[in-house]
Amino acid sequence: MKRKEMKPSRCITVATALLSLVALKAYIEWTVEEAERVPTPHGGHGVPTTAQPSKEDLPAFTLQRFNASLHQLRQSIPRTNAYWNEKQHQIFQDLDDGLVNTSWNDCSAGPEAASRVAKISDFSSYPELYRNFLLYDECRNFSLLINQAGKCSGTKNRTFLLLAIKSLPGNFAARQAVRDTWGREGEPGGLPVRTVFLLGTAQGRLGPRLQNLVEYESRSYGDILMWDFEDTFFNLTLKDFLFLSWTAEYCRDVRYVLKGDDDVFINTPKVLEYLGSLDANKMLYMGQVMANASPFRVRRSKYYVPESYYVGPYPSYAGGGGYIFSGPLVHWLHLISRHIAFYPIDDVYTGLCFQALGILPEAHPGFLTFDIAEKDRSDPCVHSRLLLVHRRSPQQTFQLWKQITDPSLSC
Ligand SMILES: *[C@@H]1O[C@H](CO)[C@@H](O)[C@H](O)[C@H]1NC(C)=O
Ligand SMILES: *[C@@H]1O[C@H](CO)[C@@H](O)[C@H](O)[C@H]1NC(C)=O
Ligand SMILES: *[C@@H]1O[C@H](CO)[C@@H](O)[C@H](O)[C@H]1NC(C)=O
Ligand SMILES: *[C@@H]1O[C@H](CO)[C@@H](O)[C@H](O)[C@H]1NC(C)=O
Ligand SMILES: *[C@@H]1O[C@H](CO)[C@@H](O)[C@H](O)[C@H]1NC(C)=O
Repeated sequence: MKRKEMKPSRCITVATALLSLVALKAYIEWTVEEAERVPTPHGGHGVPTTAQPSKEDLPAFTLQRFNASLHQLRQSIPRTNAYWNEKQHQIFQDLDDGLVNTSWNDCSAGPEAASRVAKISDFSSYPELYRNFLLYDECRNFSLLINQAGKCSGTKNRTFLLLAIKSLPGNFAARQAVRDTWGREGEPGGLPVRTVFLLGTAQGRLGPRLQNLVEYESRSYGDILMWDFEDTFFNLTLKDFLFLSWTAEYCRDVRYVLKGDDDVFINTPKVLEYLGSLDANKMLYMGQVMANASPFRVRRSKYYVPESYYVGPYPSYAGGGGYIFSGPLVHWLHLISRHIAFYPIDDVYTGLCFQALGILPEAHPGFLTFDIAEKDRSDPCVHSRLLLVHRRSPQQTFQLWKQITDPSLSC
């Protein structure tokens, strides 16, 4: 971003905004009834400390193996004239023909995009945001505005768990709650845990002001990744794609990645305990599994998919509220995602990429992305047994974290 000389009035605006941010943090803490500091996380939970495997210990994914799983994915996509189906079959055809250099940098929303979408006979009746998604669905080359290049380096042991949290520029309170509770960085039991928040840019009138605040926040906490695209629902797949490419470059040795929303509550000690108990060679893709799902045809829904866009079942996928996968898969996911056409629903897209690698999601009952019974929603004992639940406010997050990490909690 170009930085111009700030006019005095702009300085005042920014200063006011910064004060608001500080006040917001104080407010969240104050509304947590007790002003006392949240205790150090992970204390005394006896996280198993298994030896770290070297890269050679991990199963070798060969191109041959991709060939089989790609073939299977290909078979599962009905050959109809729906837009996405045709587009993906064309990509498979290109792979057959040895055209492996897919470039995705048509960002003009110009004549080329117009001629692509002209194949959809009822395109003009698509919801506006959908039309916008389609005009940009071959544009993936966005640059980082805020990076954390050293996020995964500087520790003796390789990063064990990277918490990658999808957030929005304006969600300051949610991010503060996460970094002060379950998302706190540290090395419990010698296992480095690192956190990044994934952001695009803020839209609208307040955009520039939020940008200044987020830059300030990034300088304070060093946990913001921001790309130069508008942070909208239909750009979440783009966010996934860019995150994979970031991780492949800056955090390629990570053991596990937990991708989630900023309004989930994660029982990090329990997640670490669980991951520590696994066979390090096992390739994990785990969460709350959506099986036998298919496109939602109700136009008013956020998840609406027109029939002229996609026909067919969805692959089994882990709900986007929060799921975990093995770090060594990042490299392959990043590679394969170049050959999977963007899909407007990000967790379905991710499921397609895993399927292309031949990896099926595994269900774990501790992932509750649709929340739990009303009566249990503030019960620390219930939360101390689960791994992840959606959704909790920043205040609830502080409260629950304090309770579940209290050594005197008896359930
Ligand atoms: C890939 O898989 C297809 C279908 O199983 C097969 O026909 C083809 O020969 C395979 N290609 C390679 C290079 O193994
Ligand atoms: C793909 O791109 C790379 C690097 O730009 C190049 O070396 C290679 O020849 C290209 N392959 C094809 C099939 O075009
Ligand atoms: C992506 O690359 C294309 C072609 O080089 C360029 O025209 C476009 O502006 C780029 N888009 C972004 C968002 O960087
Ligand atoms: C690295 O992890 C091992 C156990 O896995 C632990 O014993 C050791 O203290 C850790 N090293 C550092 C520098 O934290
Ligand atoms: C995604 O971001 C790009 C770049 O900011 C923007 O042009 C496009 O409209 C966004 N797409 C959607 C569907 O919001």
